[in-house]
Amino acid sequence: MSFGFGKDFRITVFGESHGNGIGVVAEGVPAGFPINSNEIQQALDRRRPGGNLSSARKEPDRIQLLSGITEGKANGGPITMMVENRDVDSSWYRKNEHIPRPGHSDYAAYIKYGGFNEWLGGGFFSGRMTAAFVMGGAVAQMILRAKGVRVLAHLIQLGSVKSNAEISDSWIEENAPKSPVWCADSGESLKMVEELERVMAEKDSLGGTVECRAIGLPAGIGEPLFDSIESVLSHGVFSIPAVKGIEFGDGFRLCGMKGSDANDGFVLKEGKVTFLTNHAGGVLGGITDGMPLIMRVAFKPTPSIGKEQHSIDLEKMEETAISVEGRHDPCIAIRAVPVVESVVAICLADLMIRAQKIGRVEVK
Ligand SMILES: Cc1cc2nc3c(=O)[nH]c(=O)nc-3n(C[C@H](O)[C@H](O)[C@H](O)COP(=O)(O)O)c2cc1C
Repeated sequence: MSFGFGKDFRITVFGESHGNGIGVVAEGVPAGFPINSNEIQQALDRRRPGGNLSSARKEPDRIQLLSGITEGKANGGPITMMVENRDVDSSWYRKNEHIPRPGHSDYAAYIKYGGFNEWLGGGFFSGRMTAAFVMGGAVAQMILRAKGVRVLAHLIQLGSVKSNAEISDSWIEENAPKSPVWCADSGESLKMVEELERVMAEKDSLGGTVECRAIGLPAGIGEPLFDSIESVLSHGVFSIPAVKGIEFGDGFRLCGMKGSDANDGFVLKEGKVTFLTNHAGGVLGGITDGMPLIMRVAFKPTPSIGKEQHSIDLEKMEETAISVEGRHDPCIAIRAVPVVESVVAICLADLMIRAQKIGRVEVK
Protein backbone atom coordinates (compact mmCIF):
# COMPACT_ATOMS: atom_id res chain seq x y z
CA MET A 1 0.00 0.00 0.00
CA SER A 2 1.38 3.40 -0.84
CA PHE A 3 0.19 6.95 -0.38
CA GLY A 4 3.47 8.29 -1.66
CA PHE A 5 5.02 9.07 -5.01
CA GLY A 6 8.47 10.00 -6.34
CA LYS A 7 12.05 9.01 -5.56
CA ASP A 8 14.52 11.91 -5.33
CA PHE A 9 11.70 14.40 -4.67
CA ARG A 10 8.90 12.48 -2.98
CA ILE A 11 5.48 13.32 -1.61
CA THR A 12 3.38 11.28 0.83
CA VAL A 13 -0.18 12.41 1.43
CA PHE A 14 -2.53 11.92 4.36
CA GLY A 15 -6.09 12.80 5.37
CA GLU A 16 -9.68 12.16 4.34
CA SER A 17 -12.46 14.26 2.87
CA HIS A 18 -14.52 14.40 6.07
CA GLY A 19 -11.68 13.82 8.58
CA ASN A 20 -9.83 16.53 10.50
CA GLY A 21 -7.60 17.64 7.65
CA ILE A 22 -5.48 16.90 4.59
CA GLY A 23 -1.69 17.06 4.40
CA VAL A 24 1.52 16.22 2.63
CA VAL A 25 5.08 15.28 3.55
CA ALA A 26 7.54 16.46 0.90
CA GLU A 27 11.04 14.96 1.00
CA GLY A 28 14.17 15.58 -1.02
CA VAL A 29 14.34 19.37 -0.97
CA PRO A 30 18.02 20.32 -0.55
CA ALA A 31 18.81 21.97 2.80
CA GLY A 32 19.07 25.74 2.42
CA PHE A 33 16.65 25.89 -0.51
CA PRO A 34 14.38 28.94 0.03
CA ILE A 35 10.71 28.08 0.58
CA ASN A 36 8.15 30.87 0.31
CA SER A 37 5.08 29.81 2.30
CA ASN A 38 2.99 32.62 0.73
CA GLU A 39 3.44 30.89 -2.63
CA ILE A 40 2.12 27.63 -1.18
CA GLN A 41 -0.92 29.53 0.14
CA GLN A 42 -1.44 31.16 -3.28
CA ALA A 43 -1.35 27.72 -4.93
CA LEU A 44 -4.00 26.46 -2.49
CA ASP A 45 -6.14 29.53 -3.20
CA ARG A 46 -6.04 28.72 -6.94
CA ARG A 47 -7.42 25.22 -6.22
CA ARG A 48 -10.17 26.31 -3.82
CA PRO A 49 -13.73 26.14 -5.18
CA GLY A 50 -15.32 29.48 -6.03
CA GLY A 51 -18.37 30.82 -7.90
CA ASN A 52 -21.40 28.77 -8.96
CA LEU A 53 -19.42 26.39 -11.22
CA SER A 54 -17.77 24.46 -8.40
CA SER A 55 -18.62 22.69 -5.16
CA ALA A 56 -20.47 24.76 -2.54
CA ARG A 57 -18.09 23.33 0.11
CA LYS A 58 -16.14 26.37 1.22
CA GLU A 59 -12.91 25.43 2.96
CA PRO A 60 -10.61 28.27 4.06
CA ASP A 61 -7.55 26.06 3.33
CA ARG A 62 -5.10 28.08 5.43
CA ILE A 63 -1.77 26.27 5.31
CA GLN A 64 -0.15 25.01 8.51
CA LEU A 65 3.59 24.32 8.19
CA LEU A 66 4.49 21.63 10.69
CA SER A 67 8.13 20.86 9.94
CA GLY A 68 11.03 21.05 7.51
CA ILE A 69 11.40 24.83 7.15
CA THR A 70 13.63 27.02 9.33
CA GLU A 71 13.60 30.79 8.75
CA GLY A 72 12.25 30.43 5.22
CA LYS A 73 14.71 27.74 4.11
CA ALA A 74 14.43 23.95 3.84
CA ASN A 75 16.27 22.42 6.83
CA GLY A 76 16.87 19.03 5.22
CA GLY A 77 14.05 17.22 7.04
CA PRO A 78 10.64 16.30 5.64
CA ILE A 79 8.51 19.36 4.87
CA THR A 80 5.13 18.62 6.45
CA MET A 81 2.12 20.80 5.64
CA MET A 82 -1.59 20.51 6.21
CA VAL A 83 -4.95 22.25 5.94
CA GLU A 84 -7.90 21.61 8.24
CA ASN A 85 -11.31 20.43 7.05
CA ARG A 86 -13.67 23.06 8.45
CA ASP A 87 -16.78 22.86 6.25
CA VAL A 88 -17.76 19.19 6.51
CA ASP A 89 -21.38 18.06 6.01
CA SER A 90 -21.76 14.26 6.15
CA SER A 91 -25.58 14.18 6.35
CA TRP A 92 -26.27 12.82 2.84
CA TYR A 93 -23.60 10.10 3.20
CA ARG A 94 -24.99 8.97 6.58
CA LYS A 95 -28.46 8.56 5.04
CA ASN A 96 -27.04 6.58 2.08
CA GLU A 97 -24.30 4.64 3.84
CA HIS A 98 -24.63 1.31 2.04
CA ILE A 99 -25.55 2.66 -1.39
CA PRO A 100 -22.51 3.19 -3.66
CA ARG A 101 -22.53 6.19 -5.99
CA PRO A 102 -22.26 5.08 -9.65
CA GLY A 103 -18.95 6.24 -11.11
CA HIS A 104 -17.34 6.88 -7.71
CA SER A 105 -14.88 4.76 -5.73
CA ASP A 106 -17.48 3.70 -3.11
CA TYR A 107 -18.15 0.17 -4.39
CA ALA A 108 -14.52 -0.70 -5.24
CA ALA A 109 -13.35 0.66 -1.85
CA TYR A 110 -16.11 -1.31 -0.04
CA ILE A 111 -14.85 -4.53 -1.64
CA LYS A 112 -11.15 -3.75 -1.18
CA TYR A 113 -11.44 -2.86 2.52
CA GLY A 114 -14.12 -5.44 3.39
CA GLY A 115 -16.72 -2.78 4.24
CA PHE A 116 -14.37 -0.91 6.64
CA ASN A 117 -13.67 1.86 4.12
CA GLU A 118 -14.24 5.50 5.09
CA TRP A 119 -17.57 6.12 3.39
CA LEU A 120 -18.07 9.81 4.16
CA GLY A 121 -17.27 12.05 1.20
CA GLY A 122 -15.34 9.23 -0.49
CA GLY A 123 -12.67 9.17 2.26
CA PHE A 124 -9.18 9.33 0.77
CA PHE A 125 -10.52 8.80 -2.77
CA SER A 126 -12.01 12.29 -2.64
CA GLY A 127 -10.91 15.15 -4.88
CA ARG A 128 -10.24 16.98 -1.60
CA MET A 129 -6.98 14.98 -1.39
CA THR A 130 -5.67 17.09 -4.25
CA ALA A 131 -5.15 19.96 -1.77
CA ALA A 132 -2.16 17.87 -0.62
CA PHE A 133 -0.94 17.45 -4.22
CA VAL A 134 -1.08 21.24 -4.61
CA MET A 135 0.94 21.93 -1.44
CA GLY A 136 3.63 19.49 -2.61
CA GLY A 137 3.37 20.87 -6.14
CA ALA A 138 3.99 24.42 -4.93
CA VAL A 139 7.33 23.33 -3.44
CA ALA A 140 8.16 21.48 -6.68
CA GLN A 141 7.31 24.60 -8.69
CA MET A 142 9.85 26.59 -6.61
CA ILE A 143 12.52 23.96 -7.35
CA LEU A 144 11.69 24.07 -11.06
CA ARG A 145 11.63 27.86 -11.23
CA ALA A 146 15.14 27.93 -9.77
CA LYS A 147 16.14 25.71 -12.72
CA GLY A 148 14.41 27.96 -15.29
CA VAL A 149 11.38 25.67 -15.85
CA ARG A 150 7.74 26.82 -15.91
CA VAL A 151 4.72 24.52 -15.79
CA LEU A 152 1.35 25.86 -16.91
CA ALA A 153 -2.04 24.32 -17.61
CA HIS A 154 -5.38 25.41 -19.05
CA LEU A 155 -8.71 23.87 -19.96
CA ILE A 156 -9.04 23.10 -23.68
CA GLN A 157 -12.30 21.15 -23.66
CA LEU A 158 -15.42 21.14 -21.50
CA GLY A 159 -18.22 18.85 -22.63
CA SER A 160 -18.62 19.39 -26.37
CA VAL A 161 -16.89 22.81 -26.45
CA LYS A 162 -13.24 22.79 -27.56
CA SER A 163 -10.97 25.82 -27.42
CA ASN A 164 -8.18 26.76 -29.78
CA ALA A 165 -5.19 25.01 -28.20
CA GLU A 166 -2.72 26.75 -30.56
CA ILE A 167 -2.09 29.67 -28.24
CA SER A 168 1.10 31.04 -26.78
CA ASP A 169 2.38 30.22 -23.29
CA SER A 170 2.24 33.85 -22.21
CA TRP A 171 -1.39 34.13 -23.41
CA ILE A 172 -2.30 31.10 -21.30
CA GLU A 173 -0.48 32.42 -18.24
CA GLU A 174 -2.23 35.77 -18.51
CA ASN A 175 -5.73 34.73 -19.56
CA ALA A 176 -6.53 31.27 -18.13
CA PRO A 177 -6.68 32.53 -14.50
CA LYS A 178 -9.21 35.22 -15.58
CA SER A 179 -11.66 32.62 -16.91
CA PRO A 180 -14.15 30.94 -14.53
CA VAL A 181 -13.25 27.64 -16.25
CA TRP A 182 -9.48 28.21 -16.70
CA CYS A 183 -9.90 28.49 -20.49
CA ALA A 184 -7.51 31.02 -22.06
CA ASP A 185 -9.80 31.58 -25.07
CA SER A 186 -12.44 34.09 -23.84
CA GLY A 187 -15.05 33.28 -26.54
CA GLU A 188 -14.90 29.53 -25.95
CA SER A 189 -14.78 30.10 -22.19
CA LEU A 190 -18.24 31.73 -22.40
CA LYS A 191 -19.60 28.82 -24.46
CA MET A 192 -18.19 26.35 -21.92
CA VAL A 193 -19.94 28.17 -19.07
CA GLU A 194 -23.25 28.15 -21.01
CA GLU A 195 -23.01 24.42 -21.73
CA LEU A 196 -22.11 23.61 -18.13
CA GLU A 197 -24.98 25.72 -16.75
CA ARG A 198 -27.42 23.90 -19.07
CA VAL A 199 -26.19 20.51 -17.86
CA MET A 200 -26.21 21.61 -14.20
CA ALA A 201 -29.88 22.56 -14.56
CA GLU A 202 -30.48 18.93 -15.61
CA LYS A 203 -28.73 17.83 -12.36
CA ASP A 204 -25.94 16.33 -14.45
CA SER A 205 -22.18 16.85 -14.91
CA LEU A 206 -19.56 17.15 -17.69
CA GLY A 207 -15.99 16.00 -18.41
CA GLY A 208 -13.13 17.94 -19.93
CA THR A 209 -9.53 18.05 -21.10
CA VAL A 210 -6.64 19.90 -19.46
CA GLU A 211 -3.55 20.72 -21.49
CA CYS A 212 -0.28 21.12 -19.59
CA ARG A 213 3.03 22.50 -20.87
CA ALA A 214 6.49 22.51 -19.28
CA ILE A 215 8.71 25.20 -20.76
CA GLY A 216 12.48 25.51 -20.35
CA LEU A 217 13.28 21.85 -19.64
CA PRO A 218 16.79 20.95 -20.78
CA ALA A 219 17.22 17.99 -23.14
CA GLY A 220 18.18 14.72 -21.43
CA ILE A 221 15.70 14.55 -18.49
CA GLY A 222 14.07 11.14 -17.88
CA GLU A 223 15.47 7.66 -17.44
CA PRO A 224 15.36 4.87 -20.02
CA LEU A 225 12.34 2.53 -20.15
CA PHE A 226 10.51 2.27 -16.78
CA ASP A 227 11.26 5.76 -15.48
CA SER A 228 10.84 7.43 -18.85
CA ILE A 229 9.42 10.92 -18.55
CA GLU A 230 6.12 9.69 -20.03
CA SER A 231 5.99 6.77 -17.54
CA VAL A 232 6.65 8.97 -14.51
CA LEU A 233 4.23 11.67 -15.63
CA SER A 234 1.50 9.13 -16.42
CA HIS A 235 1.96 7.49 -13.00
CA GLY A 236 1.69 10.88 -11.30
CA VAL A 237 -1.20 12.19 -13.40
CA PHE A 238 -3.26 9.00 -13.01
CA SER A 239 -3.05 9.52 -9.24
CA ILE A 240 -5.42 12.46 -9.71
CA PRO A 241 -8.97 11.16 -9.18
CA ALA A 242 -11.19 11.09 -12.30
CA VAL A 243 -8.31 11.03 -14.83
CA LYS A 244 -9.12 8.66 -17.70
CA GLY A 245 -6.46 9.40 -20.30
CA ILE A 246 -3.19 11.16 -21.09
CA GLU A 247 -1.45 11.88 -24.37
CA PHE A 248 1.89 13.47 -25.20
CA GLY A 249 2.45 15.72 -28.19
CA ASP A 250 0.04 14.81 -30.99
CA GLY A 251 -0.83 11.63 -29.02
CA PHE A 252 -3.60 9.56 -30.62
CA ARG A 253 -3.60 11.75 -33.74
CA LEU A 254 -0.14 10.31 -34.58
CA CYS A 255 -1.83 6.97 -35.38
CA GLY A 256 -3.36 8.47 -38.52
CA MET A 257 -0.26 10.34 -39.70
CA LYS A 258 2.59 9.37 -42.05
CA GLY A 259 6.11 9.15 -40.63
CA SER A 260 7.15 12.05 -42.83
CA ASP A 261 4.48 14.22 -41.19
CA ALA A 262 4.88 12.90 -37.65
CA ASN A 263 8.70 13.16 -37.40
CA ASP A 264 10.10 16.43 -36.08
CA GLY A 265 12.97 17.42 -38.42
CA PHE A 266 16.20 18.70 -36.87
CA VAL A 267 17.56 22.18 -37.62
CA LEU A 268 20.33 24.37 -36.26
CA LYS A 269 19.37 27.72 -34.75
CA GLU A 270 22.23 29.98 -33.67
CA GLY A 271 24.48 26.90 -33.58
CA LYS A 272 22.09 24.91 -31.34
CA VAL A 273 20.12 21.77 -32.21
CA THR A 274 16.39 22.31 -32.37
CA PHE A 275 13.34 21.04 -34.29
CA LEU A 276 11.09 22.29 -37.09
CA THR A 277 7.93 21.00 -35.34
CA ASN A 278 6.95 19.43 -31.99
CA HIS A 279 4.62 16.51 -32.80
CA ALA A 280 6.49 14.43 -30.19
CA GLY A 281 5.56 16.88 -27.42
CA GLY A 282 9.14 17.34 -26.27
CA VAL A 283 9.93 13.64 -25.64
CA LEU A 284 12.09 11.19 -27.61
CA GLY A 285 12.89 7.76 -26.18
CA GLY A 286 11.23 8.78 -22.92
CA ILE A 287 13.77 11.58 -22.50
CA THR A 288 13.25 15.31 -23.00
CA ASP A 289 14.54 16.67 -26.31
CA GLY A 290 14.65 20.35 -25.32
CA MET A 291 11.32 21.29 -26.92
CA PRO A 292 8.35 22.25 -24.72
CA LEU A 293 6.86 19.19 -23.02
CA ILE A 294 3.17 19.05 -23.97
CA MET A 295 0.51 16.71 -22.62
CA ARG A 296 -3.27 16.56 -22.50
CA VAL A 297 -5.18 14.96 -19.64
CA ALA A 298 -8.74 13.63 -19.99
CA PHE A 299 -11.16 13.94 -17.03
CA LYS A 300 -14.44 12.06 -16.85
CA PRO A 301 -17.67 13.82 -15.78
CA THR A 302 -18.19 14.17 -12.01
CA PRO A 303 -19.73 10.93 -10.70
CA SER A 304 -21.92 12.51 -7.97
CA ILE A 305 -24.99 13.89 -9.73
CA GLY A 306 -28.53 14.76 -8.70
CA LYS A 307 -30.03 12.86 -11.63
CA GLU A 308 -31.51 9.53 -10.54
CA GLN A 309 -29.35 6.47 -11.30
CA HIS A 310 -29.26 2.74 -10.60
CA SER A 311 -27.50 1.49 -7.48
CA ILE A 312 -27.72 -1.29 -4.89
CA ASP A 313 -28.22 -1.22 -1.14
CA LEU A 314 -25.28 -3.46 -0.27
CA GLU A 315 -26.59 -4.21 3.24
CA LYS A 316 -30.04 -5.34 2.07
CA MET A 317 -28.73 -6.57 -1.29
CA GLU A 318 -31.61 -4.85 -3.06
CA GLU A 319 -31.59 -2.71 -6.19
CA THR A 320 -32.43 0.91 -5.48
CA ALA A 321 -32.38 4.36 -7.09
CA ILE A 322 -29.82 6.96 -6.04
CA SER A 323 -29.76 10.69 -6.52
CA VAL A 324 -26.69 12.35 -5.00
CA GLU A 325 -27.31 15.52 -3.05
CA GLY A 326 -24.71 17.61 -1.31
CA ARG A 327 -21.89 19.71 -2.63
CA HIS A 328 -20.15 18.57 -5.78
CA ASP A 329 -18.15 20.03 -8.66
CA PRO A 330 -20.25 19.91 -11.85
CA CYS A 331 -17.02 19.56 -13.88
CA ILE A 332 -13.88 18.17 -12.22
CA ALA A 333 -11.62 19.25 -15.10
CA ILE A 334 -12.03 22.92 -14.10
CA ARG A 335 -10.84 22.40 -10.52
CA ALA A 336 -8.15 20.04 -11.80
CA VAL A 337 -6.19 22.64 -13.79
CA PRO A 338 -3.92 23.71 -10.86
CA VAL A 339 -3.82 20.07 -9.70
CA VAL A 340 -2.39 18.89 -13.05
CA GLU A 341 0.21 21.68 -12.90
CA SER A 342 1.16 20.55 -9.38
CA VAL A 343 1.52 16.85 -10.20
CA VAL A 344 3.52 17.55 -13.35
CA ALA A 345 5.81 19.84 -11.31
CA ILE A 346 6.32 17.09 -8.69
CA CYS A 347 7.28 14.55 -11.39
CA LEU A 348 9.65 16.95 -13.13
CA ALA A 349 11.31 18.10 -9.89
CA ASP A 350 11.91 14.43 -9.04
CA LEU A 351 13.47 13.64 -12.43
CA MET A 352 15.52 16.85 -12.55
CA ILE A 353 17.01 16.29 -9.08
CA ARG A 354 17.88 12.75 -10.22
CA ALA A 355 19.51 14.02 -13.42
CA GLN A 356 21.52 16.50 -11.35
CA LYS A 357 22.69 13.73 -8.98
CA ILE A 358 23.71 11.48 -11.86
CA GLY A 359 25.49 14.47 -13.37
CA ARG A 360 25.01 13.51 -17.03
CA VAL A 361 22.89 16.51 -17.88
CA GLU A 362 23.76 20.09 -17.06
CA VAL A 363 20.97 21.13 -14.69
CA LYS A 364 21.11 24.51 -12.97
C1 LIG B 1 -10.26 18.46 -8.00
C2 LIG B 1 -11.23 17.31 -7.96
C3 LIG B 1 -12.52 17.50 -7.48
C4 LIG B 1 -13.43 16.46 -7.46
N1 LIG B 1 -14.70 16.71 -7.01
C5 LIG B 1 -15.61 15.70 -7.03
C6 LIG B 1 -16.94 15.94 -6.60
O1 LIG B 1 -17.30 17.05 -6.20
N2 LIG B 1 -17.83 14.91 -6.64
C7 LIG B 1 -17.48 13.66 -7.09
O2 LIG B 1 -18.31 12.76 -7.12
N3 LIG B 1 -16.22 13.42 -7.52
C8 LIG B 1 -15.29 14.39 -7.49
N4 LIG B 1 -14.01 14.13 -7.91
C9 LIG B 1 -13.70 12.81 -8.50
C10 LIG B 1 -13.68 11.63 -7.58
O3 LIG B 1 -12.79 11.81 -6.52
C11 LIG B 1 -13.32 10.38 -8.41
O4 LIG B 1 -14.08 10.31 -9.57
C12 LIG B 1 -13.56 9.13 -7.62
O5 LIG B 1 -12.63 9.04 -6.57
C13 LIG B 1 -13.46 7.84 -8.43
O6 LIG B 1 -12.17 7.72 -8.97
P1 LIG B 1 -11.95 7.56 -10.54
O7 LIG B 1 -12.86 8.56 -11.18
O8 LIG B 1 -10.50 7.90 -10.74
O9 LIG B 1 -12.31 6.16 -10.90
C14 LIG B 1 -13.06 15.17 -7.93
C15 LIG B 1 -11.75 14.97 -8.40
C16 LIG B 1 -10.85 16.03 -8.43
C17 LIG B 1 -9.49 15.80 -8.99
